[in-house]
Amino acid sequence: MLEAHGGILVNRIVYGEERADLLSRTKEMPRVATDLHNLTEIENIATGLYSPLTGFLNQEDYDQVIEDMRLADGTVWPLPVVLRVSPAQADRLEVGSEIALTDLGDRVFAIMVLESKYSYNKEREASKVYQTTDLEHPGVTNLFNCGEVILGGEIKLIKRQQYQLFNQYRFDPFQVREEFKRRGWETVVGFQTRNPIHRAHEYLQKCALEIVDGLFLSPLVGQTKSTDIPAEYRIESYEVVINKIYPPDRVFMAVFPVTMRYAGPREAIFHAICRKNYGCTHFIVGRDHAGIGDYYGTYQAQEVFDLFCPDEIGIVALKFEYSFYCRKCQSMATAKTCPHDRKYHLGLSGTKVRSLLQDGKRPPHEMTRPEVADVLIRGLKNTVRVQKARL
Ligand code: ADX
Repeated sequence: MLEAHGGILVNRIVYGEERADLLSRTKEMPRVATDLHNLTEIENIATGLYSPLTGFLNQEDYDQVIEDMRLADGTVWPLPVVLRVSPAQADRLEVGSEIALTDLGDRVFAIMVLESKYSYNKEREASKVYQTTDLEHPGVTNLFNCGEVILGGEIKLIKRQQYQLFNQYRFDPFQVREEFKRRGWETVVGFQTRNPIHRAHEYLQKCALEIVDGLFLSPLVGQTKSTDIPAEYRIESYEVVINKIYPPDRVFMAVFPVTMRYAGPREAIFHAICRKNYGCTHFIVGRDHAGIGDYYGTYQAQEVFDLFCPDEIGIVALKFEYSFYCRKCQSMATAKTCPHDRKYHLGLSGTKVRSLLQDGKRPPHEMTRPEVADVLIRGLKNTVRVQKARL
């Protein structure tokens, strides 16, 4: 099976005596209370999803990631995975000591050995990672709302999160690898999405599946911007196609418990590396992958892969052109396969599907399968009802 990024699938979860010992020592440790995003990052480091990371980045790694998309040892790593706190929080912590990381209810989830604390330049990070310092960009807004000091150091996880939703689709990387092995898949293509499935997604997935053994559906269920369709309905849209449209022995779905950064090209590399850690050999990168608005070029998230040697990334990016429905071809197509005028093309994107639904219109069947449209229309009604009840 494909090696994890950096060579070894990281495991920072402690059990048994080591766990009991650490837990009892947490009583004397300083505590840092942190939010759901950071707790999820800790869990993702611990399960090996972010292999080769074993903790939050120290300064040398951080600087190299921001400048060159690499860790200090040269391994490709495009996004900062860091723990940001306020200067007041950082001041009471001593480098070299152990810290207990808790949720906002003071329950301990992990231990961190504080190896470094350092300040950083938010403008530099925003312009390198997001290619903009515009506060309208959700990734930039998040960054500017975070603490001014970064804490770096290795972590050990002592408590897992309890989730309300999608427990049947939550698998650690080693479990996904086991499942691929059990199914006898040697080549697997990973698909990232933050949207309900539409026909362009289906086209990309099926084209890719023609050349590999299995399709790994990996919808993101971490935080997304509020205008994205709620994860429940996105997952339900996938259940519809898995149960009715796809051959079950060729498809496996596990949710991707990661915050959406909307960092375009850098996030595409990050998404690919995480899917490599799940055991995928291939990864789909379509148009404007992980993009938002006009911040990135349509194919920038594909071109960024060419900055590295294939071995350095270690997973094959399957690059797809903008796909649309052509009324003349009477099928999905791209500029590579369709000779007809643009007036016959029906453009497809998550944004388009969302805006039709919001206007009370049913997306046409060339855009969204009717069974999927039913899920989304119901989802939208429920969301509006919940929003009204909250007012
Ligand atoms: S993303 O933020 O997770 O990338 P989305 O869920 O819309 O957003 O896209 C999932 C994948 O499908 C990405 O690789 C994206 O580039 C690709 N994609 C979406 N729509 C199209 C399309 N019409 N043509 C080609 N690729 C597409």
